Amino acid sequence: AEGMSDEEKIFTYNGVLYPSIMCPEETLKRLDSIQAREDDVMLVAYPKCGFNWMVGVLRKIIGEATGKKMDSKTPPLIEFSAPEYLKQDPSPRLLGTHIHPDNIPASFFEKKTKMLVVFRNPKDTLVSFYHFYQNNPVLPSGQSWETFFSNFMSGEVAWGSYFEHAKAWEKRMDDPNIMVVTYEELKEDLSMGVRNISRFFGFQLTEEQVQQIAEGSTFRAMREKSNDSHAGMGKVFFRKGEVGDWKNNFTPEQSQKMDEVFKAELEGTRLGAKLNY
Ligand code: A3P
Repeated sequence: AEGMSDEEKIFTYNGVLYPSIMCPEETLKRLDSIQAREDDVMLVAYPKCGFNWMVGVLRKIIGEATGKKMDSKTPPLIEFSAPEYLKQDPSPRLLGTHIHPDNIPASFFEKKTKMLVVFRNPKDTLVSFYHFYQNNPVLPSGQSWETFFSNFMSGEVAWGSYFEHAKAWEKRMDDPNIMVVTYEELKEDLSMGVRNISRFFGFQLTEEQVQQIAEGSTFRAMREKSNDSHAGMGKVFFRKGEVGDWKNNFTPEQSQKMDEVFKAELEGTRLGAKLNY
């Protein structure tokens, strides 16, 4: 990313922004050739909602339940990897994406692959995303807080609009192959999260294994190990790990603006209620 301008770091594909180094257009064009499997473990999250946290949890669950040795270095995002690379991975594969459900390869829905969908209240998501833009060299860092705020609200950020993602998943919440969890629920009771997630994917774990996975997946525990798993960028991916950091960043006007948009887009929906902050 060295020497690249902010404009070069991001590009538009089908009306949505993507980081050009991580998601080359050739990879996005070939996404639909990915063949989903029934026993894939699919993780879906809008950026900064807790994706890497759940990658850690799911790797431990799959490792414990099946004995499969899980790769802990490569992010399992389908938009970062060539389809033929994914093909070599034996089941159960851990796959993930930040892509809007309408653009997830159809074969995942045809095969009824189980998907864990993670959401986080939009204010903390925005704050986390802002810091990520500032500190991740593959993303543009030149935007002020004010500019980033308005870009987030209009969906002009990597992977598109938070609200479009939330509205699309809200419609699929009754699908038996989809489990929606929130960052806030997981912070509240991680053992319960681990227990429910492993059950959802059909993995049998003892209560002792559940507790052990939860203890190994706290923010502190993951941050400590994160420089290995995140190529020296641990502190960028594991920044603060708290609920409510928006209060240190939002102006009262920005908070009000977010409340208005949230209301207009998600009020009265179950996902909206789950994300009430
Ligand atoms: P903050 O920037 O608010 O700290 P993603 O993995 O989707 O990019 O999300 C990143 C956010 O999840 C960051 O939020 C990060 O600190 C937080 N996070 C990562 N691991 C976590 C954990 N084990 N517990 C709580 N939060 C975690």
